[in-house]
Amino acid sequence: MPLMRQVVQRRTGRPAEVVEVVEVPVPTPGPDELLVQLDAAPVNPAELLMFEGRYGYGPSRPSLPRLAGIEGVGTVVGGATDRVAEGTPLALLGIPGLWSDYVVIPARRALVLPEDIDRQQASMGLVNPQAVLLLLEDHVGLEPGDVVVQNAANSAFGRVLDAIARRRGLTLVNVVRSQAAADALAGVAHGAVAIDGPDLPERFLELTGGRPARLAVDAVGGGSTNRLAHCLATGGVVSLYGLLSGRPAVLDLDLVVFHGVRLEGYWTPRSMSRRRPEEIRTLFQESLELLRSEAFHVPVEATYGLDDVAAALEHAAQEGRRGKVLLTR
Ligand SMILES: NC(=O)c1ccc[n+]([C@@H]2O[C@H](COP(=O)([O-])OP(=O)(O)OC[C@H]3O[C@@H](n4cnc5c(N)ncnc54)[C@H](OP(=O)(O)O)[C@@H]3O)[C@@H](O)[C@H]2O)c1
Repeated sequence: MPLMRQVVQRRTGRPAEVVEVVEVPVPTPGPDELLVQLDAAPVNPAELLMFEGRYGYGPSRPSLPRLAGIEGVGTVVGGATDRVAEGTPLALLGIPGLWSDYVVIPARRALVLPEDIDRQQASMGLVNPQAVLLLLEDHVGLEPGDVVVQNAANSAFGRVLDAIARRRGLTLVNVVRSQAAADALAGVAHGAVAIDGPDLPERFLELTGGRPARLAVDAVGGGSTNRLAHCLATGGVVSLYGLLSGRPAVLDLDLVVFHGVRLEGYWTPRSMSRRRPEEIRTLFQESLELLRSEAFHVPVEATYGLDDVAAALEHAAQEGRRGKVLLTR
């Protein structure tokens, strides 16, 4: 029986120390299933949080052991090839254990990509675009011309938000934590770029011509939450969607009491659970359309094979990356 590699997590700890690569038989597809060979998969921050045991709360914490890999791209190599032809590239999401040489998926769940798609870009094409699209709907009704501010703007999520803000006529201020990150966005980002710091609210107003933001999009927490919140109009919302600093979000009391600023959490599974199946289908179509367009580009810093997954996790956790770390075939 042919064997393949699969990435497993049995315990929590430093990701590179707790990750394991095991050999298991290549799965056999059933009558309406496809055998898909993985081409590429990103090491997203959520994966690092899962290995560290910091992802989820109560029942949403992943149970162990678990198979790693939440998003990627692969190629149909067997199974129901009368339904989806051999060689077809597929976007993969929501299939447990994508960090494997092969996965089996139901043919009805195949998200078919164009033959000539850039597979590395496609591997990053669902989690963040979906999160951006849903988050922008979840908190305040935004109109063209409205101002939005985000931190960690050089992330994959941040770059997608920048592209979508451009399409929707939103004014966006992209906040990053270093000059190197600001330089990386210069000339690429549609929105203005600012470096986080105590004077962020003043510099933000200079960049927007004095207009406050209706929405602040926060992946960081800690003091960064407070600085973004000081960029908001009365009744504005901070959407906290990431845990990057690992610190509790700070929010000044007067901002909340007198200025009516609210802090709301965003998490894709919760946002999706409030939507009808046809809305989710539209979301997938919108994400795939974005991926096929020129608007979507996330730099890749490095690629690793599955055997080197520990090094890939170590690399993905480093500060100042210039792009995603991918696992590739
Ligand atoms: N809630 C949800 O449902 C949901 C869905 C999708 C994504 N997310 C979250 O979105 C965030 C971005 O994900 P991604 O895939 O786009 O990430 P990514 O491309 O891997 O980039 C990570 C980014 O985080 C920045 N960063 C890390 N620690 C930071 C800190 N302490 N302060 C400021 N910036 C920091 C890095 O900046 P440097 O370059 O300066 O190191 C880099 O820009 C993550 O927190 C992820 O969990 C949440």
